[in-house]
Amino acid sequence: MTAIKTVATQPFDGQKPGTSGLRKKVKVFQQPGYLENFVQAIFESIGDVAGKTLALGGDGRFFNRQAIQTILKMAAGNGFARVMVGQGGILSTPAASCVIRKYRTFGGIILSASHNPGGPDEDFGIKYNIPAGGPAPEAVTEAIYARSKDITQYRIVDAADIDLDRLGDHDLAGMVVQVFDPVADYAALMESLFDFGAIRALFAGGFGMKFDAMHAVTGPYAKAILEGALGAPAGTVMNGEPKEDFGHGHPDPNLVHAHDLVEALFAQDGPDFGAASDGDGDRNMILGKDFYVTPSDSLAVLAANATLCPGYAKGLAGIARSMPTSAAADRVAQALGIPCYETPTGWKFFGTLLDAGKATLCGEESFGTGSDHVREKDGLWAVLMWLNVLAVRKQPVADIVREHWAKYGRNVYSRHDYEGIDSSAANGLMDYLRGLDLKGKSLGAYSVAFNDDFAYTDPVDGSVSTKQGIRIVFTDGSRVVFRLSGTGTEGATLRVYIEQFQPDVAQHHLDPQVALADLIALARDVAQIEARTGRTEPTVIT
Ligand code: G1P
Ligand code: ZN
Repeated sequence: MTAIKTVATQPFDGQKPGTSGLRKKVKVFQQPGYLENFVQAIFESIGDVAGKTLALGGDGRFFNRQAIQTILKMAAGNGFARVMVGQGGILSTPAASCVIRKYRTFGGIILSASHNPGGPDEDFGIKYNIPAGGPAPEAVTEAIYARSKDITQYRIVDAADIDLDRLGDHDLAGMVVQVFDPVADYAALMESLFDFGAIRALFAGGFGMKFDAMHAVTGPYAKAILEGALGAPAGTVMNGEPKEDFGHGHPDPNLVHAHDLVEALFAQDGPDFGAASDGDGDRNMILGKDFYVTPSDSLAVLAANATLCPGYAKGLAGIARSMPTSAAADRVAQALGIPCYETPTGWKFFGTLLDAGKATLCGEESFGTGSDHVREKDGLWAVLMWLNVLAVRKQPVADIVREHWAKYGRNVYSRHDYEGIDSSAANGLMDYLRGLDLKGKSLGAYSVAFNDDFAYTDPVDGSVSTKQGIRIVFTDGSRVVFRLSGTGTEGATLRVYIEQFQPDVAQHHLDPQVALADLIALARDVAQIEARTGRTEPTVIT
């Protein structure tokens, strides 16, 4: 038997999980003991791990394989009986959630910094998902953080590295390491939800699609499902080889970073449908020919058409959206006579609603959409749901969305991000906004109905989350929202969300930047963005 080593260590500052786990520069994670401390803190915060099974995998970014070897040895050192690890260390975030649920593991560890760039000088991340398959709730992440602050030792076995590319069971100091196909279970789940026959017929009829995997984790999943099971022509999947540095790219599926795809869809004779996913496969961007579908609209359209898909034929129990996401889904929920929940930013807040059967579909404006099939947002799932809808309705994407707006009205929407600004300036700006009392006042042509800092009481477990974003809501229902990112690793990122409801079909063709110009200017003024951050323009507009 290999001896279990107990290694003395000292706490590191700042191991506080953010919106989605602990994210830091790779160099920070490479400090001796840094990863080990955090993993030990997880193992000591989640209950008795002896004899249990853990799921493990990541988005394939730089440091993924090395971190997996360390975590495996620590799992053995802490008494796990088995770890299920995706072949090559690969496991998309939604596939990890699928595997945790299907095999009833004692949760899982996902290695990813999502849409942040990868490489020796870029980002890495780690998070624990609970046995229900979703991100750990705040009570668990707080316990992990508390443990990380007084940790004195971690447990690890001295053993050779496991061959992560060889499928099957491996022995690691008495613990079983089960290297499994990371795609198969997920693909089977997708086939159980959507009409693969109808989608196959769509492709057979010459329907053109491009899927941009952005050199990240969804490449193998998209190739197996789209080009394999669904018969889309080879080459449908672009940038389909996962790379440790994502091909020097920024694996964030938006109009700025998925430029290859955007170019293809806006070209003459471009394909009918385009989609992209992010580093770890949980985000999605949907494009039609010459047409961009905002994530908020995508959620609403999918909700309105859900019953066309076999997995949702019985209808939806409810819809949930994060607070900054547009209210387009609320209008669909109202028409369907089902509840719509408004939660703080971050997928973890949907978990209780999904577990309790209160919500079936969930979405965030940040290119996240999902359902109760797993407990993470799911990029390819959203793409397949769109394909199912397109296969049944046989209309272009743009027509489906325009018809949707004509029926429900359009929630014109945009998000402006100011990345890498000075942290104290960002905090100062938020404190300033928090202190304003605007109720009843006029800002430009708008009059303020109320302003507040969004707080949420979970309707299932009663937990309360405060300071979730400043809202300024106007009497006509328009609003601007301000929050600071909880996922960045450099300085601060200010996100400004701007929304206006437009019932008039004659105005629906307008570019949101034009339609929202007054509100955008007003948001900059009221938050004193230029004076406080020195920025005259946002870095990214979506
Ligand atoms: C961002 C998104 C948020 C999403 C999270 C994880 O968080 O805004 O909706 O849940 O990434 O993908 P933020 O950086 O805004 O805290
Ligand atoms: Zn992601």
